[in-house]
Order: sequence, then C-alpha cells, then structure tokens
Amino acid sequence: MAEVIHEMYSEEQVNARIRELGGQISADLAGEPVKVVCVLKGASFFACELAKRITSPVYMDFMYCSSYGDGTVSSGKVKITRDLEMPIEGENVLIAEDIIDSGHTLKFLTEEFRKRGAKRVMVCVMLSKPERREVEVPVDYVGFVVPDKFIVGYGLDYAQKYRNLPFIGTMEF
Ligand code: IMP
Ligand code: MG
Repeated sequence: MAEVIHEMYSEEQVNARIRELGGQISADLAGEPVKVVCVLKGASFFACELAKRITSPVYMDFMYCSSYGDGTVSSGKVKITRDLEMPIEGENVLIAEDIIDSGHTLKFLTEEFRKRGAKRVMVCVMLSKPERREVEVPVDYVGFVVPDKFIVGYGLDYAQKYRNLPFIGTMEF
C-alpha cells in the first residue's frame, strides 16, 4: 500500500515558530542557564533548532524513552531506555519533545525530573494533539496544535521512516 504524505507546515513555518518559542523561553529564563533535554529520537531536530534560539546559557542532554513500538498506538507504559548523562538536581530543565499525544511520556518525565530535584521543569512540545490526551500534563510551550492524524517529518517517524523530511506532514495509509 502506498504511503502518501501531505505537507501541513513547511520548513519555513516550523523554523519561524521555533524562533518564537525560543524568544519566549529566553524571556522566561531571564538569563538563567537551562538544560535542554531532548527526547530521542523524535525531538532531535526540534530540540537542536530550539536550543539555537535560546539566549541563556544552554546545556544539552539526551535520553531515550519508549512507549511506542513500530506501530501507531501508545502502550501507555513509559520506560527510560537510555538515561541522561548528567544529574539535573538544582537545574532549570527544559524538556523538548516532538509531540504530546496521550500525555503518558511527558507526565512520566516531568514527575521523574521533579523527583531528581530539578529546580524548575519546563515543557516545550513542537506539536500537541489535544483530542488524544489520556492524562493531563502542564505544557508550557506548544509549537502547533494538530488534529488527530498521524504526523511525520521534522523528526517524527512512521516505523523509523520520514524523520528527515524537513517539513511536518500528515500521513495517509
Ligand atoms: P504520548 O506518550 O502518547 O504522549 O506519546 C508521545 C510519543 O508518541 C511521541 O514522542 C512520539 O514519538 C509518538 N507519537 C505520537 N503521535 C505521533 C504521530 O502522530 N506521529 C509520530 N509519532 C507519534
Ligand atoms: Mg518520541
């Protein structure tokens, strides 16, 4: 079966929105340093682009979580499959995530980082699919609110494909 992708936000639109988010985050941080936590692999493109737009001192760390297999349905159970390199105690932490869907991943991560003693946990998502939320999680910054469709590109995959598309698109199966 052919997989058809329709562009939803162009590369220019995404980058422009990331600049705005970076501006807001910089204003909120008021010069304080921040650790940007990139949730691999989906947030890799977004987190790096976002970090470039933050004017406070930025430290980066990366982690792998899994709640999804190669399919399109969340299992609801989140585990850390590759942890951060450095402790976050006493730090401002900004979680950069590709998309919030059921909310399980971000709920788990925000609680985990609070337990680890972060000074402040901020959450920035490139995309939010509110219709799919199963648990409530406070999200500080949202790039775009999207409908309940399967999204690929700009880091988001379908069975590991299409992460490298420079735009955000919806996928038709
Ligand atoms: P949540 O835990 O259900 O909020 O799911 C978050 C994770 O599910 C994201 O980090 C993505 O990796 C994945 N995900 C959710 N929706 C999509 C989508 O439309 N396309 C690709 N991946 C998705
Ligand atoms: Mg992900």
